[in-house]
Amino acid sequence: MPPYDAANGSSTSQEHADAFVFFGASGDLARKQIFPALRAMVAAGELRVPVVGVAFSGWTLDDLRQRARESILAHGEPDDEHLATLVSLLHYVDGDYNDPATFEALRAEVGDAKRPAHYLAIPPTLFGTVIRGLQSVNLHRDARVIVEKPFGRDLASAQALDDEVQQAFPEESIFRIDHYLGKDEIMNLLYFRFANALLEPLWNRQYIDHVQITLAEDFGVQGRGAFYDSAGALRDVVENHIFQIVALLAMEPPAYQGYDAVQKAKEAVFRSMRPLRREDLVRGQFVGYRDEAGVAPASDVETFAAARVEIDSWRWAGVPWLVRTGKKLATTAGEVTVFFKRPPQALFDDAQLDDRPNYLRFRLSPISEIALAARVKTPGEEFRGTQRELTIHTESKLEREPYERLLAGAMAGERALFTSRGSVEAAWRVVDAVLDDHDPAHPYEPGTWGPAAADRLAEDLGGWFNPDTTDHLHPSRRRAHTDHTSPKETR
Ligand code: BG6
Repeated sequence: MPPYDAANGSSTSQEHADAFVFFGASGDLARKQIFPALRAMVAAGELRVPVVGVAFSGWTLDDLRQRARESILAHGEPDDEHLATLVSLLHYVDGDYNDPATFEALRAEVGDAKRPAHYLAIPPTLFGTVIRGLQSVNLHRDARVIVEKPFGRDLASAQALDDEVQQAFPEESIFRIDHYLGKDEIMNLLYFRFANALLEPLWNRQYIDHVQITLAEDFGVQGRGAFYDSAGALRDVVENHIFQIVALLAMEPPAYQGYDAVQKAKEAVFRSMRPLRREDLVRGQFVGYRDEAGVAPASDVETFAAARVEIDSWRWAGVPWLVRTGKKLATTAGEVTVFFKRPPQALFDDAQLDDRPNYLRFRLSPISEIALAARVKTPGEEFRGTQRELTIHTESKLEREPYERLLAGAMAGERALFTSRGSVEAAWRVVDAVLDDHDPAHPYEPGTWGPAAADRLAEDLGGWFNPDTTDHLHPSRRRAHTDHTSPKETR
């Protein structure tokens, strides 16, 4: 880590930022996420400061205002006073990020603000240029910087990027976004684990057999072919969103109340994850991917990745974590299933009837749900039973959009929902070797659960556990017994 030069500005204060600057104002992320989030922040009374959009698009302030309106209305929000307030807060700077004049103009628009928050909603290749531009007009001093994933494309580039950002900003002023951390259902993993005492005695290698995590999408790359073809599922989802979920589930209890205790506990998990080897990973590519705009005709980039992760810690040694994600799969769903060990003796004849041990299931999307599955006897004379789920929580309307929560947090200087340099780099270390050293991607048909080759990873664990595609979504139509179809039957 480069030494941080304290003279460069050392904003560790919890004071609210007094201007919001976002680079990439004409881009896709701004249109889809940032404007709706800013409007929601206005509505919640969390945004009353100047909002300065920066882009190199030949736009005027009116164009930016127009984009903001369109984006917010397309998001389904009303045309109300909050939208009008946001529009009135907007400023705009157009210019090349390599041109000092762009930053002079930005300095003028930021006006008297002393603690601006700069959001880099731009490709990481431009981070250095923008940061140097901010430094040239002293806009880094006492400021915060918010950066988007992907944070680098491997360990070396993430380190280089961190060095670059830390030239101007101390670690405590850098807010690295992984939008999964701003989701209610992900925050609930942390809450549910540590707000209840009943889990802790069971939450270890003595009682847990293995864990499965699936983040599936039934859609493809949605016009992001060029970006996606430079990333792939490992970089796009596994190394960040999935690993964050693993960390929240695997971490030790935070030693005290405070974001840094959570950060440290999560970082310890990333550090104890065993670096993946070629045989721990199965990559797939949906048939038709190579025809997408922006994708190389002979691309071997994976649109599906499944891995078997081991955590070499006192708590988790020997417990496999099966993770997978993919585009154009059978459904859109996020789910974590924690399987407990079987009873030490099979006392009843039905032990072979269904082969899953008890489990705790966290449905993460499209609804949020927590269910515990245990066996109960079916009425009748024989000792036969079935596994039934007790639904502890089910919520179909999620409260707050992640970007609203994250940007509001960064403006307020609250670091709880952001990742640290140590965590990001430790996570890259886990996947670094297999980014290049891997088997070719196996083709799979759209609408399936990915390539059959991935079954190998789950063979000794009873196979992959596919999220139910129907009943969870309609609790009123829930069957008494949730009988997950086995992967082999659905493929
Ligand atoms: C993004 C990825 O980070 O996460 C996308 O770049 C992916 O490819 C998305 O679709 C998934 O996020 P969510 O919130 O829709 O589950």
